[in-house]
Amino acid sequence: MADRSGDLSPWWRGGTIYQVYPRSFQDANGDGVGDLAGIRERLPYLRALGVDGVWLSPFYPSPMADFGYDVSDHQGVDPLFGTLEDFDALAAEARRLGLRLILDYVPNHTSSEHPWFREHPEYYIWREEPNNWVSVFGGSAWEPRDGRFYYHAYLREQPDLDWRRDDVRERMLGVLRFWCEHGADGFRIDALRQTIKDAQWRDNPVNPDWDGRDEYDSLIPAFTTDQPEVQELVRQFRETVGERLLIGELYLPIERLVAYYGSGLDMPANFHLLSTAWGAAEIAALVERYEAALPDGAWPNWVLSNHDRPRVASRTGQPAAAAMLLLTLRGTPTLYYGDEIGMTDVEIEPGREQDPWGGRRDPARTPMQWDAGGGFSAAEPWLPYGDLRVNVAAQQDDPASLLSLHRRLLRARRDFALEGYETLAADGVLAYRRGGFVIALNLGADAAATQLTGEIAVATDVARAGEHVRRETVLGPGEGIALRVP
Ligand code: GLC
Repeated sequence: MADRSGDLSPWWRGGTIYQVYPRSFQDANGDGVGDLAGIRERLPYLRALGVDGVWLSPFYPSPMADFGYDVSDHQGVDPLFGTLEDFDALAAEARRLGLRLILDYVPNHTSSEHPWFREHPEYYIWREEPNNWVSVFGGSAWEPRDGRFYYHAYLREQPDLDWRRDDVRERMLGVLRFWCEHGADGFRIDALRQTIKDAQWRDNPVNPDWDGRDEYDSLIPAFTTDQPEVQELVRQFRETVGERLLIGELYLPIERLVAYYGSGLDMPANFHLLSTAWGAAEIAALVERYEAALPDGAWPNWVLSNHDRPRVASRTGQPAAAAMLLLTLRGTPTLYYGDEIGMTDVEIEPGREQDPWGGRRDPARTPMQWDAGGGFSAAEPWLPYGDLRVNVAAQQDDPASLLSLHRRLLRARRDFALEGYETLAADGVLAYRRGGFVIALNLGADAAATQLTGEIAVATDVARAGEHVRRETVLGPGEGIALRVP
């Protein structure tokens, strides 16, 4: 499939992926929760923004213990989000607009209310005695039931499937086929690292560096994540989906992450920017380390926020520089809804938390802010809005807005998306070359000078576009420029 620049690489190499959290994007039926019809209405916005693919977090039937990541029917749509017809209409509209649809595939576990858990308990993982494994959300990962224990890497309402069984594989591969037939252009594979567990049920080793916070981190997940057979599974996913895009959710160290290219993932999701300190030296070191670790022909991926982590604007305080970084590094960027207008983490009143993980992920999951009144729903939204001065309508026609900057960057990156990466400076200012472009970002708290020559093509300060820089220029804190260089 050719991308828009005429290159023969797949669309996603030069493209950008936008993550939609369906509960929070657009509510079309006025119940306070977003839905598929709402997303369809907003596709032209995404098209105009300039993204290429839209990844939808789960919209399948679910008791919503983990807001859709607890699936009770993999081949349907939860009534809260609409119907399968609504999905087909969304897929058709996306195709018409030239946008690709990426679905969330949740293979590690189902809801405890999935009929399989009653009718086929053998599909799940049972032991007579628990071992020391801890759930990601804290507490033992083993839940007593009828004199035995079942394993759940996440909530007790999310029992893990036994992927060592052929019947489980067959049925779950059928889920991929189903959505391919319904027009999916790719999949983001949820919790991939956990799908296979140690066959001998060995205790996880104690983590000597535990900081005493999340109980999950008290152990090293040596026997519950990243088992060699996970890659075998990926090969089966690949055979099933053909050329479609496969992204894997893999919170793993870089050396382990890149091993997954070999098994057929197009992009093991790279979350390392989420945990790297916001500074030129730290980020340059990360990029170098990652680029060096990539196997030949592997295509990079970058994530700056998602539905599980704090919003980039809150974490960095420099949303414009962050946008320029994300959209100019080599690789496919994943842009989280609302980051393009600078939405921040929203404080949730005590007692109004929704997220089963102690409410900790709610602040980054609040409704998309379309206009000064919110514009997300006619009803009270399921989570509160943040500061409504931050909204699409206010930024739409303002060339100085963060939204306009995203549009300019998404357009400009088509000229260098497939070029190489080379670090030029990492001392206060982070500067790197991408083909005929040099990007310079001041990620510090003070103004900083940098040595560059060229013509500014895109700038966080729109007034600087077209400026000729000769030898030296000064960047304010959080300021960035992309220069066309001689
Ligand atoms: C992934 C999802 C997260 C979910 C978990 C369990 O990490 O991103 O939101 O809670 O899997 O499905």
